[in-house]
Amino acid sequence: MKALIWNKDGTLELVDKPIPQITDPNDAIVKVTMSSICTSDLHIISGCVPKAIPGTVLGHEFVGEVVETGSAVKNLKAGDRVSANCETFCGECFFCKRGYINNCINGGWKLGCSIDGCQAEYVRVPYANTGLTKLPENVTYKNALFVGDILASGYFGAEMCEVKKGDTIAVIGAGPVGLCAMQCAKLMGAGKIIAIDIDENRLKIAKDNGLCDVIINSSLHNTLDIVLSMTDNRGADGVVEAAGTKDTFRLSWEIARPNAIVGIVAMYEESQILPLPDMYGKNLTFKTGGVDAVHSRKLLEYISDDRLNTDFLISKEMKLSEIKDAYKIFANKGNGLLKIAITD
Ligand SMILES: NC(=O)c1ccc[n+]([C@@H]2O[C@H](COP(=O)([O-])OP(=O)(O)OC[C@H]3O[C@@H](n4cnc5c(N)ncnc54)[C@H](O)[C@@H]3O)[C@@H](O)[C@H]2O)c1
Ligand SMILES: [Zn+2]
Ligand SMILES: [Zn+2]
Repeated sequence: MKALIWNKDGTLELVDKPIPQITDPNDAIVKVTMSSICTSDLHIISGCVPKAIPGTVLGHEFVGEVVETGSAVKNLKAGDRVSANCETFCGECFFCKRGYINNCINGGWKLGCSIDGCQAEYVRVPYANTGLTKLPENVTYKNALFVGDILASGYFGAEMCEVKKGDTIAVIGAGPVGLCAMQCAKLMGAGKIIAIDIDENRLKIAKDNGLCDVIINSSLHNTLDIVLSMTDNRGADGVVEAAGTKDTFRLSWEIARPNAIVGIVAMYEESQILPLPDMYGKNLTFKTGGVDAVHSRKLLEYISDDRLNTDFLISKEMKLSEIKDAYKIFANKGNGLLKIAITD
């Protein structure tokens, strides 16, 4: 089969590899029908992910058809259409039992990082009982493509804010994660969503898809003044930080009202400073972290019921044979490009 591997010098190669085999009773082999490229894949190639192993097949965001299951896989069979979780998790350890699957002692981010991932024709998925979720009949592969990673991360961001009915939620960063967070916050009952970015194309996408009520280009306007003017001078009830810069980290707590929750889903390349004296008395709660992607079934039901839809994130479709070009295009992200769907 064709598969995309990365080399230590940062180059990519589309190579021929044998179709993966079951090596553990909990494994399933999945024929990849659609995959996507994630910013984390770019971090691997640039050498920023210490646990990533050169020569590994890249990719962890995908949907596909089960072709074979190990003897311990009880809830799936060959022919099932599935969405894959970006994280491998056992479902049984201390952390998994509490829903904190990002810290599963037997799992973590493996696919496309330390074991072969989905930018190939077939992939071996460990702990398939928990890592794969069957698609409802009316949900297409395309509809489900982002359930296990980007949508899960956006949902996680909104969930961190503990959205109450009518809340004003500000989302910093209108990239794929931020856009999903806006949609999820609305679903959770937010009354007003404020989208903040410096990229007009992305803000337009947020507005045109009805994901937000207000857009603010923070490079052109005083974001704090606008948020205060919209909230009786209080600030936002919850803030999702999905941009990941020093400026957006600061903005995230500045625009939060006293006693708000700041949910930080972004990954920073360097340490950030919490200037506690400046925020003393605001009594904020900060939450951070890698996504606990445990809601795949629920997210698929929302998609099935037309309460969530992430199809608009696909800006371009390309074939697996064109994947090296797809990586280049994704890394350059011009003209409002959000995600590329790789088809078989
Ligand atoms: N916590 C997790 O498990 C998890 C999972 C997936 C992604 N992430 C992280 O979430 C973040 C968002 O992911 P994405 O795929 O949407 O990334 P992205 O790079 O496509 O989007 C980031 C957005 O932030 C905007 N931005 C940059 N600087 C800004 C500024 N100064 N002010 C306002 N907006 C600014 C950019 O224009 C862009 O639209 C990244 O940091 C990513 O690493 C975390
Ligand atoms: Zn990812
Ligand atoms: Zn576990």
